[in-house]
Amino acid sequence: MTRTVYVNGDYVPEDQARVSVFDRGFLMADGVYEVVSVLGGRLIDFDGHMVRLKRSLSELAIANPLSDEDYLAAHRELVAQNGIGDGLVYLQVTRGNPGDRDFAYPPVETQPTVVMFTQSKPGLADAPAARTGWKVVSVDDLRWGRRDIKTVQLLYPSMAKMEAKARGADDAWMVEEGRVTEGTSNNAYIVKDGTIITRELSNDILHGITRAAVLRFAREAQMQVEERAFTIAEAQEADEAFVTSASAFVMPVVEIDGAPIGGGKVGSVATRLREIYLEESLKSAV
Ligand code: PDD
Repeated sequence: MTRTVYVNGDYVPEDQARVSVFDRGFLMADGVYEVVSVLGGRLIDFDGHMVRLKRSLSELAIANPLSDEDYLAAHRELVAQNGIGDGLVYLQVTRGNPGDRDFAYPPVETQPTVVMFTQSKPGLADAPAARTGWKVVSVDDLRWGRRDIKTVQLLYPSMAKMEAKARGADDAWMVEEGRVTEGTSNNAYIVKDGTIITRELSNDILHGITRAAVLRFAREAQMQVEERAFTIAEAQEADEAFVTSASAFVMPVVEIDGAPIGGGKVGSVATRLREIYLEESLKSAV
């Protein structure tokens, strides 16, 4: 079945979708994105992703071209047209096509480009990796200083992912000034003596929508949460480690730079948080 994608209001077969070579997203990575997971045909944490999308756009002074209702309708239409049970919806909004290349932003009348597509991932919530855990390696965080904006400039995280693979790991944790910022496409956590520790929000990390939900559920379940940065050495001494994202949900980490965490076995806190997150977020799925 040919995938149907969304481009500026139209639903078209993927091989007929067109975006200009002058699009600022293509030339300058001048655009932002969101990834919403789909479980049982329903959208997880949709409202949170819309709030962050609007914040990212506003930080870059890109006019938001659609209403939340329009974005929701387009997400649902793509899920329906592509028969997505479990998977992801990718949404990208760029500053659009000014008709030429220039460092200065184009006039505000330039229409932003909106592109959306689905990725089918049957059994997404039941990923076998959640039972065995990920191995991660540390790399320097060489990204720019506004990681709170979810821009499409993902080359460094992509390089870090390749380095992780080359070193036999599943992902990389990025480290700045001796402390872990986040994973290549997820937020990072450790658990010590029952306390869940994750870096506090700032411009240094993406404000994960899954992070917000997981911390809320953890506090509701009377778990201790400490929002502060930690080192790789501290992580290697932790009882557990895990990451969160819209595509991995809560994913246990069992090895950091070759050192086993929690005896190299998936921990009970990560497992419980994964269960709670999936259960609770399905209740509010739309
Ligand atoms: N990535 N940190 C980074 C750098 C990310 O790219 C992501 C998400 C997260 C987690 O955010 P959320 O919980 O809102 O998904 C943290 C998405 C999934 C991606 O790029 O595919």
